[in-house]
Amino acid sequence: MRGYRVCTLPGDGIGPEIMAEAKKVLAAVGRSEGVSFSCEDHPIGGCAIDAATASGLEPTALPASTLDAAASSDAVLLAAVGGPRWDGAGPRSPRPEQGLLEIRKALGLHVNLRPVRAYQALADASPLRPELLEGVDLLIVRELTGGLYFGRRERREGVAGAGLDGAPGAFASDCCEYSEGEIERVVRWAYEAASRRPGHSVTSVDKANVLETSRLWRSVAHRVAAEYPRVESADMLVDSCAMQLVADPARFDVIVCENTFGDILSDEASMLAGSLGMLASASIGEGTSLYEPCHGSAPELAGKGVANPLAQVLSVALMLRHSFGMDGAAERVERAVEATLDDGWRTPDIAGRATPPERVLGTSAMGDRVVERLG
Ligand code: IPM
Ligand code: MG
Repeated sequence: MRGYRVCTLPGDGIGPEIMAEAKKVLAAVGRSEGVSFSCEDHPIGGCAIDAATASGLEPTALPASTLDAAASSDAVLLAAVGGPRWDGAGPRSPRPEQGLLEIRKALGLHVNLRPVRAYQALADASPLRPELLEGVDLLIVRELTGGLYFGRRERREGVAGAGLDGAPGAFASDCCEYSEGEIERVVRWAYEAASRRPGHSVTSVDKANVLETSRLWRSVAHRVAAEYPRVESADMLVDSCAMQLVADPARFDVIVCENTFGDILSDEASMLAGSLGMLASASIGEGTSLYEPCHGSAPELAGKGVANPLAQVLSVALMLRHSFGMDGAAERVERAVEATLDDGWRTPDIAGRATPPERVLGTSAMGDRVVERLG
């Protein structure tokens, strides 16, 4: 029997709860496809920091054992990291999010795919008018290992003149840095994706009227665009793109942008799908790929069994497609999610005004409905 080793990183907050549902779905796919998936949990984020501290080790959000396991697996499935418990821990102790950034960098995950679909069944869960959502099916291609997230940074206290009226104060800087090669590989990915999609268009997003990195981005994007004459190309300033995403979202097919812009625009775009709880992502690069929902650890929902597991389940579909070449199985998972929504089942975040209370499910029951629909 064909078999794959999946490194599972449940992380913090709602992470373990939604990961449990993803594993159910993966097991069901394995049974019907005759493929064995072996999942092995490893710590990342706040739980890794706590575990290291408890055993008297130097706290780290990405233990070497986790990175080794991830790098040597066939794919990595991550849930979420972070929470208020680790926020005030002081400048010297690591933040949970560092674990996520480090694993992205260490695995060379340069390209992050965030597909956004407006599900008809969820039209009343979106704050946008239903007629705006018709035909929305876009892909955000986010650069994931450069820009502000990984540039030089510093913080100094008591700097002369940094306070009000010339008094001493604190100073901080984050440097946005991009090389031509970093831009080219992600833009190329966007064009390759657009060539295979019916929409056949790429919108390259930047802030070229202000930022030098954006002017470099735009010139590289134009050079790559010239190699794909059959794909429609457009530039858009990021502020305008933020506006167009809610004014006329159906105009977009593939959107490609740098790291920070992609972070912000994808949260905005999640409202087209009804909830941040619906958005999955695939991070692809040099070796093992990583799949994770776009949302965070939702500490306020943790332990209550009410979190929406569908973004995590849809991340499983992306893993089947991109890492295991199981396109048919990926589509079956995506269709099972859609059918579950069509049947009227909702978690609280996607319950609309017209949802009867008996259709609102908890995390685990929602996972069960999807597994049932997988058949
Ligand atoms: C995301 C998240 C992360 C990011 C956080 C948790 C560091 O918001 O994947 O969009 O900013 O990349
Ligand atoms: Mg984000």
